[in-house]
Amino acid sequence: MGGPQAMKNLTLATPLEWRIRSRTARVAVIGLGYVGLPLAVEVASAGFPVTGIDVDAHKVASLLSGRSYVAEVSDDRVAPLVRDLRLCPTTDYSRLHDAEVSLICVPTPLTRSKEPDLSYVRAAAEGIAPTLRPGVLVVLESTTYPGTTEEILRPILESSGLRAGRDFALAFSPERIDPGSRKFTMREVPKVVGGLTPRCTELAQLFYQQFIDRVVPVSSPTVAEMVKVYENVFRNVNIALVNELALLCDRMGLDVWEVIEAASTKPYGFMPFYPGPGVGGHCIPIDPYYLAAKAREYDFHLRFIELAAAVNENMPYHVVSKVTAALNGQGRSLRGARTLVLGVSYKRDVADVRESPALKLMELLERRGAVVRYHDPYVPEVVLPNPGGRLASVPLTDEELEQADCVIVATDHSCVDYPRVARRAKLVVDTRNALREVRAPHVVRL
Ligand SMILES: NC(=O)c1ccc[n+]([C@@H]2O[C@H](COP(=O)([O-])OP(=O)(O)OC[C@H]3O[C@@H](n4cnc5c(N)ncnc54)[C@H](O)[C@@H]3O)[C@@H](O)[C@H]2O)c1
Repeated sequence: MGGPQAMKNLTLATPLEWRIRSRTARVAVIGLGYVGLPLAVEVASAGFPVTGIDVDAHKVASLLSGRSYVAEVSDDRVAPLVRDLRLCPTTDYSRLHDAEVSLICVPTPLTRSKEPDLSYVRAAAEGIAPTLRPGVLVVLESTTYPGTTEEILRPILESSGLRAGRDFALAFSPERIDPGSRKFTMREVPKVVGGLTPRCTELAQLFYQQFIDRVVPVSSPTVAEMVKVYENVFRNVNIALVNELALLCDRMGLDVWEVIEAASTKPYGFMPFYPGPGVGGHCIPIDPYYLAAKAREYDFHLRFIELAAAVNENMPYHVVSKVTAALNGQGRSLRGARTLVLGVSYKRDVADVRESPALKLMELLERRGAVVRYHDPYVPEVVLPNPGGRLASVPLTDEELEQADCVIVATDHSCVDYPRVARRAKLVVDTRNALREVRAPHVVRL
């Protein structure tokens, strides 16, 4: 185990390097969710033999029968890879015994008290450690606070008796997928890579270069981790800023969308962000807390992050106020009103409801006595906290639109016919400017 021979392996041209170049290195992707499945498919399509490991037996069974559960990955891509054994999904960690490159894509959520929950990363590392061999490469892709790879992952992997950076290569490389968007393929989005040693970075860089056009090396895993949280905090803070501007515009009787559109004509130094009912998904609302937790270790308080969270978390409450005022304008109260929420996933054209502000909005509407129904072609069912419980998506019929006292556009899926919504509904509160073409008194914008 380890020793001078393995060190030589990592410092000179290694068998792994050769096997990466020839795309024969056996790759394991751990966690086959929104991030891991597209990655596994891309790596397998580049020619590498891939084992996909997930603890969710339903996901594994689905893949084994050639069916994808991630919208961006079609069955047509999964089925042939699985059939030809180029992508082998399994729940069995012992299948890692021959993995030469392991990519960890497990969840990094928050605990109930909004502290980083690294239990999934730990579990994945504990699954890898017993089968770790000299000369392999392990990369963490899950978004996390700066320091995780070195402080959490490394010691668990080293419990195998092998030393990171000497016997095996260790790196962090953040995932940058944009769910629901087909604007960029995985190949086109540059990938940041930070290894524990320059050699670790080189090996990880070489690996990603096989299926990604531009790989950006940085000096350490911690820098790569910071890059990712910075990208997400940047979005979070800018969305909060525009949400605050929307509140001010509302008070001043200005159309915030018009302001943003005109400001966006500036060809430099400005980048548009859009207001909405809040922020959702697995990254934008969560990652700032990861960074804030780390910052506290250094007696550092990230005031921007606290402020942004406060502004964004207030948005569903603001939308409820808009709905209440709009109903009042038509002589109705929110209590007893029939509301129809359009779109409940956290962003356009995805099925993901994690941290979705639409769910908070529905919960608030119910608590204030409104009858809540919803339509979302991607989300057949949602579970709300009491008193709501389980709710099913209703078909978007003319009758459904006509019977609603207020239709609320919470997420602007592109398959919805918004002019029809405006024609049929008595009242619309549009939090996404989906009805931008419609100027009518019964259409109220955020
Ligand atoms: N979804 C996104 O848009 C996105 C974008 C960039 C980065 N990320 C980050 O990528 C990571 C994964 O996110 P995701 O959206 O793919 O999550 P996900 O929940 O869709 O997928 C994670 C998968 O890991 C599996 N899993 C959990 N514990 C496991 C274990 N011990 N061993 C093997 N499998 C295990 C789960 O069953 C699940 O299928 C997170 O850190 C997230 O912040 C997500």
